[in-house]
Amino acid sequence: MDMAWPMTQLLLLALVAAAWGAQPRTPGAGMDLLNVCMDAKHHKTKPGPEDKLHGQCTPWKDKACCSASTSQELHKDISLLYNFTVDHCGKMEPTCKRHFIQDNCLYECSPNLGPWIQEVNQSWRKERFLHVPLCKEDCQQWWQDCRTSYTCKSNWHRGWNWTSGINQCPTGTTCRTFETYFPTPAALCEGLWSHSYKLSNYRRGSGRCIQMWFDPAQGNPNEEVARFYAQARSAGALPRGLEPLLLSLALMQQLWLLG
Ligand SMILES: *[C@@H]1O[C@H](CO)[C@@H](O)[C@H](O)[C@H]1NC(C)=O
Ligand SMILES: *[C@@H]1O[C@H](CO)[C@@H](O)[C@H](O)[C@H]1NC(C)=O
Ligand SMILES: *[C@@H]1O[C@H](CO)[C@@H](O)[C@H](O)[C@H]1NC(C)=O
Repeated sequence: MDMAWPMTQLLLLALVAAAWGAQPRTPGAGMDLLNVCMDAKHHKTKPGPEDKLHGQCTPWKDKACCSASTSQELHKDISLLYNFTVDHCGKMEPTCKRHFIQDNCLYECSPNLGPWIQEVNQSWRKERFLHVPLCKEDCQQWWQDCRTSYTCKSNWHRGWNWTSGINQCPTGTTCRTFETYFPTPAALCEGLWSHSYKLSNYRRGSGRCIQMWFDPAQGNPNEEVARFYAQARSAGALPRGLEPLLLSLALMQQLWLLG
């Protein structure tokens, strides 16, 4: 029997497998993206249980990047965390404000945003989130509940007047309804924090978008979401079509040996 063909196949299989194994891991690929805290101003170095988390941050108490005192502070009208106020155009309505508190809880407490961490060159933090896919309903509800509150800027990261120590509207801007500065839900969720969020087309419960709001009785739905995007990212690091090629080679090999 002519053994040249199966031997060639075997060799090819070994080569492809070796090449696959030698694929450089993308920085932070796979598991490094899961269960991590961002390197920023108030985050803990590692996520862990925090049974005293405050108010709207309690859903994260089993595994949090925020401390109890951080969670408490971010519920205040002018938190000492950033000396930032959402009341820069008069008092914000509570139905609107609760979304900003929840946004802060997600930012400070979530250990599931690893796939969207980016390095930044900022004095107050080394890393940020970019394009976190926020579930459609969470963004829409935020926008709906804030339409009638007031602001003077469409990007809240930059351009404030900090001379008093607290963010104030810079001269030349006017306080108008949110709807004026953020005409759509996407304008709000994406524009507010320089694209920290991306409005997702996926819905709550899909396992494909990050929920700002969740009931901890059912566990943290964002764990599955982070796993999905971390896997998608490391799979993207492999040359496309390699897996089916390997499988068919192995199958051919077996058929040949059986025959
Ligand atoms: C906020 O303001 C307080 C009081 O003026 C000050 O002690 C604190 O350092 C400020 N915090 C930040 C983050 O700027
Ligand atoms: C970061 O910013 C500082 C000044 O703000 C600058 O000197 C430095 O070159 C920057 N580094 C990078 C990598 O952009
Ligand atoms: C900043 O606010 C102060 C008052 O707190 C005001 O005197 C100053 O003109 C403002 N500057 C700018 C650039 O808005």
